[in-house]
Amino acid sequence: MNDELLRLIQGYRDDFLGVDQTTLIACLKAIQSQYGEVPAEAIDMMVQELNTTPGILKSLILRIPSLKMASKVHTILLCNGERCSNRGAEAFIHSVETTLKTRVGEKTPDGLFILKTQRCLGRCAFGKNVNLDDQALTEMTLEKLLVAIEHIK
Ligand code: FES
Repeated sequence: MNDELLRLIQGYRDDFLGVDQTTLIACLKAIQSQYGEVPAEAIDMMVQELNTTPGILKSLILRIPSLKMASKVHTILLCNGERCSNRGAEAFIHSVETTLKTRVGEKTPDGLFILKTQRCLGRCAFGKNVNLDDQALTEMTLEKLLVAIEHIK
């Protein structure tokens, strides 16, 4: 996607006249038409290529109801290391998969979360351990994880 997206954005560059808001909107609409929504990397590329700012682009997306920014995908990283496994990590991971209707390595049906596992998160004494994006969660239960997930949505 990256090369194709970059070429699309570069098609809206005008080094002589600069890029006005009408052109930025046209570019955002073309990206959305191609990808179904405006991916986060499109914002970064537009900032680089079209000499604009993330703030301007995000305010345009908010102002124009037909434009939709891609939702951030949150990572739920479940420890499946030995010490957490001794505390029931395997059954815990299975209950997370069942409750969130997904599997390790895949996204939830709403596309907001992806489940991953890692052998040891370096907090063995406090297992079962989970990282929810950059939050370190310890002594986890399914109920505690669901509360954390609701807070981050
Ligand atoms: S085994 Fe889970 S944090 Fe080390």
